[in-house]
Amino acid sequence: MTINKVGVIGSGLMGSGIAEQSARCGFDVVVREINPEAVEAGQKRIFGSMTRGLERGKMTQEAHDEAVARLSFTTEVEALADCDIIIEAATENMALKKEIFADLDRLAKADAILATNTSSLSIAEIAAATSRPDKVLGIHFFNPVPVMPLIEYVRGLLTSDETMAAARQFGADLGKQTVESQDRPGFIVNRLLIPYALDAIRILEEGVATRDDIDLGIKLGLAHPMGPLTLSDFVGLDTLLFIADAMYDEFKDPRYAAPPLLRRMVTAGYHGRKTGKGFYDYS
Ligand code: 3HC
Repeated sequence: MTINKVGVIGSGLMGSGIAEQSARCGFDVVVREINPEAVEAGQKRIFGSMTRGLERGKMTQEAHDEAVARLSFTTEVEALADCDIIIEAATENMALKKEIFADLDRLAKADAILATNTSSLSIAEIAAATSRPDKVLGIHFFNPVPVMPLIEYVRGLLTSDETMAAARQFGADLGKQTVESQDRPGFIVNRLLIPYALDAIRILEEGVATRDDIDLGIKLGLAHPMGPLTLSDFVGLDTLLFIADAMYDEFKDPRYAAPPLLRRMVTAGYHGRKTGKGFYDYS
């Protein structure tokens, strides 16, 4: 099947990046948010990022204007009815995702692909909310979407080969390289990232090393662009905790058990960069 029109549900950090990259790569994009305020915030994020791209010489004025013209925004889920692929990037909440997928199943074209950008929830469970589990898969993007060159595809038990092939072509058209994982919490990248980030928090909590030395050690010792505590702030401490809990729930392995410091920081509203405070102060 050919993908021309992309629907994106949610225009937070990930949804806006997915929408921006899709529009920049020539797809018509409809972004759905829950209310006009959220639409406005999403537009600000997407258009702001494209303006920065223009100013930094990453895009010509013509490419910028064309990408802007390909984007539309709505609060009506019905506006996604003629999309060839719909990517859900809403909050990581299974009940909410099931509701969204049941809606999409009702209104999307019969051959439309329904994808979730979940970082840890079960594709099979989300697919079970639809009557077309063969058309459902995980398409996991990385933040910032326009910069990170990877997409992780997650195949549910019932995802068809045709769906996987069409989604892979879509990823290539977005200029990304792709890897494939079976439907297990954390897939490939988060399965390795989460215990690493949790261990960094544990050694901070135990007083083994300071925040700055942990980050500098990894940045310089392993040539990572960010140390694990900076990266945790970047991902969002609430998101990190959510993924850790989902992985712990499934595997019951202490490697995925959140350290008390992380849970307390999240409870206190320290969610990292997006709230201005995490392991670092961004205010
Ligand atoms: N949109 C578009 N371009 C962006 C951007 C954005 N939001 N943010 C940065 N860029 C571009 C800049 O324009 C710049 O391009 P240039 O070098 O051609 O001028 C380039 O990226 C580098 O940006 P900066 O110079 O501003 O800053 P840095 O050199 O510090 O790079 C970074 C920023 C790209 C975020 C880099 O620090 C990095 O790669 N960090 C690691 C990010 C990472 O690991 N992401 C994955 C998180 S895990 C995840 O998402 C999965 C989830 O399930 C948890």
